[in-house]
Amino acid sequence: MAKIKTTYFCQNCGNQFSKWQGQCTACKEWNTIVEEVIQKPEKSNWKTPTNTSKRVSKPLLINEIDVSQEARIQTNDAEFNRVLGGGIVPGSLTLLGGEPGIGKSTLLLQIALKLQHKTLYVSGEESQKQIKMRAERINPNSSNCYILTETKTQNIFKQIEALEPDIVVVDSIQTLHSDYIESSSGSISQIKECTTELIKFAKETATPVILIGHITKDGNIAGPKILEHMVDTVLQFEGDRNHVFRILRANKNRFGSTNELGIYEMQGSGLREVSNPSEILISKKDEELSGNAVAATLEGMRPLMIEVQALVSTAVYGTPQRSATGFNAKRLNMLLAVLEKRAGFRLGAKDVFLNITGGITVDDPAIDLAVVAAILSSNEDEALQKDVCFAAEVGLSGEIRPAQRVEQRILEAEKLGFSTIFVSKYNKISLKNTAIKIQLISKIEDLVEFIV
Ligand code: TYD
Ligand code: MG
Repeated sequence: MAKIKTTYFCQNCGNQFSKWQGQCTACKEWNTIVEEVIQKPEKSNWKTPTNTSKRVSKPLLINEIDVSQEARIQTNDAEFNRVLGGGIVPGSLTLLGGEPGIGKSTLLLQIALKLQHKTLYVSGEESQKQIKMRAERINPNSSNCYILTETKTQNIFKQIEALEPDIVVVDSIQTLHSDYIESSSGSISQIKECTTELIKFAKETATPVILIGHITKDGNIAGPKILEHMVDTVLQFEGDRNHVFRILRANKNRFGSTNELGIYEMQGSGLREVSNPSEILISKKDEELSGNAVAATLEGMRPLMIEVQALVSTAVYGTPQRSATGFNAKRLNMLLAVLEKRAGFRLGAKDVFLNITGGITVDDPAIDLAVVAAILSSNEDEALQKDVCFAAEVGLSGEIRPAQRVEQRILEAEKLGFSTIFVSKYNKISLKNTAIKIQLISKIEDLVEFIV
């Protein structure tokens, strides 16, 4: 029997090593290298059909390239189309990630059921009967959607060749298995191999493929980071499983902007598109609490509204406690010192606790103003209006400093239904006719005046 071949992969960047090591020399991450059994594929899984294999690519003048057949496929779901940048691009590979139970399968099945095109929904997670039961709840009269329960890529490609679908949905990439690789489904080498085959198939036949990807504890898509580099679009479906609202956003999009987001509500009959996002805020209206403030932050390129909670109370022990979750504790001390010195608040004898909700950590300095507002609100025991948000940095002399790409934050806040946003007077804003009121302030006293 031939010796089993094993190799070592970095779970972060997908780099391959011949022996184990503590740190990946490519991406410098620690403890990410794992051993996997492989058997290099001698031939590829997806065989190019003979009629197209003779096609040889030659350089074309950019003006001569015909884009007319590249018309996007419009789904019935306006939010999904918008997040993709105006529909599904033929031959593109889209990866949809999200926590278990958030509604990834529901979203894609729903889109598949409502499509006018011939769609193949491949599931390695549920049986055909289970999918049918789910489909009955969503849209019982679909005539274009085929369901296949299969995990072996060889068999999937065989069915695709016979059916010739216009769109393929795969639930999920972690369940796929290629015979050419010996390691188990969900391992890095399997995910890499199966994705490569699917990309090859998508590009050669101009059939769009949408993949579902599981995410790990820390919110990244399970498998090598390289998976995200391989596909054209990475979508993230997020939300609290205990709440009905879900947000769909693009983390990466080769065919459109990553600034758009789609909002859904999970109902008994599937996901409903929410065209007026302020509904979300209205539903929370009755729980106005002191010490809560919303910050319009940016996470990488993406705007993100984050709730900051502060609790200020009289210190029980001699030394007051200061603790921050998801926020730099040193920066919290600095902001408290600024409040003490510039706004005359006696916070020296008080415990201050700060928490960024949702378990996220924020480095964006523009969260400062929301932190200060939450602290002031808790100190005064006075709730802020629910539909107000903040985006500015606070300087040592109490000045309100401009936030980066403030217009993007303002548009996000507007989209999410906020009525007022506090930003620095020193920001250059060229937005006109916004529904949201832009409150310009220059020093911390201006904010104190508003809250107290
Ligand atoms: P699912 O799409 O299976 O999640 P994922 O594929 O991301 O793991 O969705 C699971 C949840 O959605 C499940 O807890 C039940 C809920 N749900 C509804 O509330 N209404 C519906 O019509 C459907 C189909 C699911
Ligand atoms: Mg699922």
